[in-house]
Amino acid sequence: MAGRTEIPGVPSRLGTIVEVSRCEVKKMNVGPIVCRVLFIVLALQLGSAAVCRASDNGLAKTPPMGWNSWNKFGCKGIDEKVVRETADAMVSSGMKDAGYQYVVMDDCWQTRRDAEGNIVADAERFPSGMKALADYVHEKGLKFGVYTDAGTKTCAGRPGSLGHEYQDARQYANWGVDYLKEDWCNTLPGQDSQFSYTLMRDALAASGRPIVLSICEWGATKPWLWAAPVGNLWRATGDIQDCWDCTTKWGRIGVMLILDEVKGLGSYAGPGHWNDLDILEVGNGGMSNEEYRAHFSLWALLSAPLLAGNDLSNMSSDIKAILLNKEVIAVDQDALGRPGALVWKDGDLEVWSKQLADGGRAVVLLNRGAAAATIGAQWTDIGYPAGLAATVRDLWTGNQVSGRKGSYSALAPGHGVVMVTVKP
Ligand code: GLA
Repeated sequence: MAGRTEIPGVPSRLGTIVEVSRCEVKKMNVGPIVCRVLFIVLALQLGSAAVCRASDNGLAKTPPMGWNSWNKFGCKGIDEKVVRETADAMVSSGMKDAGYQYVVMDDCWQTRRDAEGNIVADAERFPSGMKALADYVHEKGLKFGVYTDAGTKTCAGRPGSLGHEYQDARQYANWGVDYLKEDWCNTLPGQDSQFSYTLMRDALAASGRPIVLSICEWGATKPWLWAAPVGNLWRATGDIQDCWDCTTKWGRIGVMLILDEVKGLGSYAGPGHWNDLDILEVGNGGMSNEEYRAHFSLWALLSAPLLAGNDLSNMSSDIKAILLNKEVIAVDQDALGRPGALVWKDGDLEVWSKQLADGGRAVVLLNRGAAAATIGAQWTDIGYPAGLAATVRDLWTGNQVSGRKGSYSALAPGHGVVMVTVKP
């Protein structure tokens, strides 16, 4: 539209309203400073109106499942060959049948913006282009995800979406994107997270394509308090490290530390809006299989997104058996959508319990210590009367006992879990 001032991040429709408002303010015949103040107030009101609108894109009624490139391939290793091979492997390994569907490219697929401000994919690594890649993933019966950032640049220094939210959302929709992870690096001083992610939510909605919005501000502004009507999942912590309980000097943390940070956040999540405990490390080599089983079990108990983060084309049978455990996945994907919680603790020994749609419970007996130890779950701690007779099924061994009353005890390996369902 000739002569219209472009306002970064404001959709053309709102831009038009703002432009009309600018004219109205001019007509009021007030001085330039009053005019500017009135204009800013009008623009802010338009912004806050967007914040107040509730979102329901109907997506992620159960925690999203899929794969994300970052943990294994980082910035340097991502290209279209990896994405295609991952989509192939997701199908051939049985993961697709087990419920995994999103193939998400993290940082570094993008290089620059063109003269019109359109985001441009790295032509060397993605010679076929994004549309062709999305088509390939869709042909496999899977869904395609990309990554951006709410600031000027991504964490790896690629162009971010700030000021280009509607333009980018339209572009993603044209490519056939189904899932967007939006990071929080290189934001402006004072940039408001709730406002920024709401802007992207509205931009995605305006694109006309259903796109899952994955908020990634690392729990910095307590997204569990405001993000339920904004995104489908929000990272609740800093980045995961492939270790049991380590911390790194650059801030990445092991699975036990993530668990500690999210303890108590379960009640904020539910169908359509989940606590994201970060991409899985199962199969990346830093932990034992026992530790990976614990990692996977706990993510499922907490209704976390199950985004595999390993090389799906090269998985050992042990790793495949973890990622493909359908009974553990069923706990994660339970229709009630109520994340579990810590119900008992004594030193290194813990009991975590999750209510299931059929009235049963999923229970994880977690041993944080190095030596094997017996852990008991009391019925009264998981919300049952002591006299209730229940069937207990071990989700890793398949062992089952019926008529159990009062409690269930089992030997949990060091740095490991026993995971059961308890069904009256
Ligand atoms: C941040 C995010 C990670 C990953 C990288 C990419 O650290 O938290 O999950 O997306 O950026 O640069």
